[in-house]
Amino acid sequence: MILIIDFGSQFNQLIARRVRECRVYCQIVPPHIPLTELNALKPEGIILSGGPSSIYEKNSPKMDPGVFDLQIPILGICYGMQYMVHSLGGQVQQANKREYGFAELLIQERAGLFQDIQGKTICWMSHGDSIVGLPPGFRITAATANTPIAAIINKHKQFYGVQFHPEVQHTPKGKLMLQRFLFDVCGCKRNWTMKNFAKDAIRSIQEQVGDKKVILGLSGGVDSSVTALLIHKAIGRNLTCIFVDNGLLRKNEAEQLKKVFQQHLQLNIRFVNAAKAFLETLKGVVDPEKKRKIIGKVFMDVFEAEARKLKDAEFLAQGTLYPDIIESQSAFGGPTAVIKSHHNVGGLPLTMKLKLVEPLKYLFKDEVRLLGKALGLEDNLIWRQPFPGPGLAIRVIGEITPKRLAILREVDAVLLEEIRAGGFYRKLWQSFAVLLPIKSVGIMGDQRTYENIVAIRAVTSKDAMTADWARLPQKLLAKISNRIINEVRGVNRVVYDISSKPPSTIEWE
Ligand code: XMP
Repeated sequence: MILIIDFGSQFNQLIARRVRECRVYCQIVPPHIPLTELNALKPEGIILSGGPSSIYEKNSPKMDPGVFDLQIPILGICYGMQYMVHSLGGQVQQANKREYGFAELLIQERAGLFQDIQGKTICWMSHGDSIVGLPPGFRITAATANTPIAAIINKHKQFYGVQFHPEVQHTPKGKLMLQRFLFDVCGCKRNWTMKNFAKDAIRSIQEQVGDKKVILGLSGGVDSSVTALLIHKAIGRNLTCIFVDNGLLRKNEAEQLKKVFQQHLQLNIRFVNAAKAFLETLKGVVDPEKKRKIIGKVFMDVFEAEARKLKDAEFLAQGTLYPDIIESQSAFGGPTAVIKSHHNVGGLPLTMKLKLVEPLKYLFKDEVRLLGKALGLEDNLIWRQPFPGPGLAIRVIGEITPKRLAILREVDAVLLEEIRAGGFYRKLWQSFAVLLPIKSVGIMGDQRTYENIVAIRAVTSKDAMTADWARLPQKLLAKISNRIINEVRGVNRVVYDISSKPPSTIEWE
């Protein structure tokens, strides 16, 4: 495994992604990790990440310089390289100007990372300070016009440094450089596969949990589903899943989940129908944030009451993913503004003292999908589009009533059927309908109608941070609109949402 020391770069997750794409396991750890702990992880190599600071700043991140005596190969990237140089007696010069963007990298010695590269290549620079003096034992291996010391090597110690960012797409040969570090320098093996991961994860769940009982909030989303399946494989009936039907689900959703998880996969599940509690508390509420708060609170109450019935449960399982962990541990990530409060299923009940089991906490989303596949989860579940915890409550704009929910459910079902039939379901990040709180005039047969309007939202996105409205074919849109107005009573107008995120958000509330 490879350890990535987090000096605060926005590209840290990318470094981890690249390493794992090479089928080598890696973890990101904060710079203050004690060396004994670091050693215990037995890394084959260490990558010191970039970061926004200058090593001359008082509060710049530092780690125990003893890391340079461990006889473990080290690659320093940007700030990581400067930190290494500075710690080992070289000289870093504070810059008054940043170098940012593409640069031509002239390879001076095809050693170490550069064995696959001849002459020149493009690299991505983003730095203020520069190295002006090398520590003993180091040589320069590459330069750019503005940065004479762009890459360095200490062959004897197996230390490497690059001023540019090999992990970003803008450094086209970056992955080749990282591969040389992983395989030639560190001697890693390509053995990080989901089958191996599953085997190890199942063993460590068994070790952690023993013969104790575990509970898990199952939402049917890919993260909680894969978590459930993995733990089920490890401890069987000692896992109890709690599925809360909040009355805000899509058409047939609860029945489908029941079928897959209870009948096919034989999981031990308690289905709690709490629709009444949710809908009663939501009566008359139109404010989106109030809706979210209520749903979060009622969910906790229902989940906790159900969990308490399992008297001897000691563990709570959650489908936390690696990006959540990195975000919460990042030494430099400040709190971001709360745009919408998120209430994810599986949140820790406040008053229960349960220990956490989080078997996906080192995985990225696409790895979770691969793991689901390796565990035999059906494609339908693995490729489900995200569905928000508050469900249809934030898609019925205005007051939530059983009647309005029923209209939206029918509309949504027609929409998804057509999106699937058109082959768009997997291509879209999300596709859904929103019921608006206004009515419009229409004409059906010879009758004037005064009915509801629904909006269709379909977006493409990589991570939901940004999203673009999908350019669906007009023919498909025409069919969707036609079917909805003809088949769903109470709707006489369909509009298509053509806003991107930002400045709009994906959900309307
Ligand atoms: P927005 O609307 O903020 O949504 O652009 C970004 C992504 O998050 C989902 N979403 C939620 N997921 N609980 C969830 O589990 C929530 O409260 C929630 N609100 C939004 C949304 O569907 C999109 O994928």
